[in-house]
Amino acid sequence: AQTVERTPEGAVAVGGLDVRRLAEEFGTPAYVMDETDFRARCRAWRDAFGPDADVYYAGKAFLSRAVVRWLHEEGLNLDVCSGGELATALDAGMPAERIALHGNNKSDEEIERAVEAGVGRIVLDSFQEIARVAHTAARLGRRQPVQIRVTVGVEAHTHEFIATAHEDQKFGLALAGGGSSGAGEGPAAEAVRRVLMLDSLELTGIHSHIGSQIFDMAGFEVSARRVVGLLTRVRDEHGVELPEIDLGGGLGIAYTPEDDPREPHEIAKALGDIVTRECEAAGLAVPRLSVEPGRAIAGPTAFTLYEVGTLKELEGLRTYVSVDGGMSDNIRTALYDAEYSVALVSRASAAEPMLSRVVGKHCESGDIVVRDAFLPADLAPGDLLAVPATGAYCRSMASNYNHALRPPVVAVRDGQARTIVRRETEEDLLRLDVG
Ligand code: LLP
Repeated sequence: AQTVERTPEGAVAVGGLDVRRLAEEFGTPAYVMDETDFRARCRAWRDAFGPDADVYYAGKAFLSRAVVRWLHEEGLNLDVCSGGELATALDAGMPAERIALHGNNKSDEEIERAVEAGVGRIVLDSFQEIARVAHTAARLGRRQPVQIRVTVGVEAHTHEFIATAHEDQKFGLALAGGGSSGAGEGPAAEAVRRVLMLDSLELTGIHSHIGSQIFDMAGFEVSARRVVGLLTRVRDEHGVELPEIDLGGGLGIAYTPEDDPREPHEIAKALGDIVTRECEAAGLAVPRLSVEPGRAIAGPTAFTLYEVGTLKELEGLRTYVSVDGGMSDNIRTALYDAEYSVALVSRASAAEPMLSRVVGKHCESGDIVVRDAFLPADLAPGDLLAVPATGAYCRSMASNYNHALRPPVVAVRDGQARTIVRRETEEDLLRLDVG
């Protein structure tokens, strides 16, 4: 996704910046994020969905003050799912009415801060929470706009979806029950009933998020149909037409060349067509649609820059290439068996490809960054490697395992690089240790 060229000596330059210079200035490991690409992706989503829909970037993918400003400037809204994300959003100037608060176990404090700030949407996830948010809003003299998160009975996997009668997981309230619409007499319908009775809550719509790293549109389409099914039921039962639906995030990205992701305009068209068709069939006004992409915006915009430390050739097996980071800056390989690609970027090499496994420096054998890769056989300590597509769910899921210092995020734009999240220091670690 980034403009990649080679310098005369064969090193890779990103947006006009030689990676060797980036490594010198910012150290390794480092996440290098292309601000221009990030902004372009925001605009692609906005343009695809148009003025009658809203795009909420899912902050869990990666959030920082700079990112909040980019989103704000590019006309996106923001989905937060914790007090920390909310604080970051507000601190960086995202207008509260453009923030949605998510979570299956929001604390009273998180709810209070969100209501007090005036967030545009709280997505309700349980019966207890309906009561809690209603109570807090009443106490603060507010009428809080809310959506109800439903589970539509679609289990989305990477390349497939399985319709289930009941989703066995912690999020949302099940539509359950039956009929082809799926909008049966389940907890979701009961939640609607309760919310409509509460003066301090304004029910604006229904929310559904079916999963993540999805390539197949079919799951989204089933979800859209079932959510409209509930809207129809709500109209029939209560005489109320809810004005919004949110179909969540989940669009997959390319981690390896084999992945073939859908584009924002494809998902916009698929969802828009289904919602319009189903609403027309039911005689409903078409509600305002929103979506919550995280990975599809942030993921492709960054790569992680590592330095090779040691190499270990295991005869007849592969070469283990150890880099100066690992599962503390990218847990996805260990956690989800995620696949990544990797390239030597500090020089050109004509050496034979050797089967390699890029591993970190942590104290366990599962500390793998790239399980299978071909790297040049003359790879040596001091070489720089880049692992692309690490903009989402890498820095945001980074840890201090083994007291590792979490890497910085360096934003590149117009041939300039600047730190937007600085590298952790040992002082940062020790500051928390007050025993
Ligand atoms: N909306 C809701 C309510 C969500 O729970 C999520 C992701 C999103 C939107 C954004 O989904 P995206 O467009 O990024 O797929 N840590 C995992 C991904 C977990 C996603 C959790 N929820 C990973 O590294 O793959």
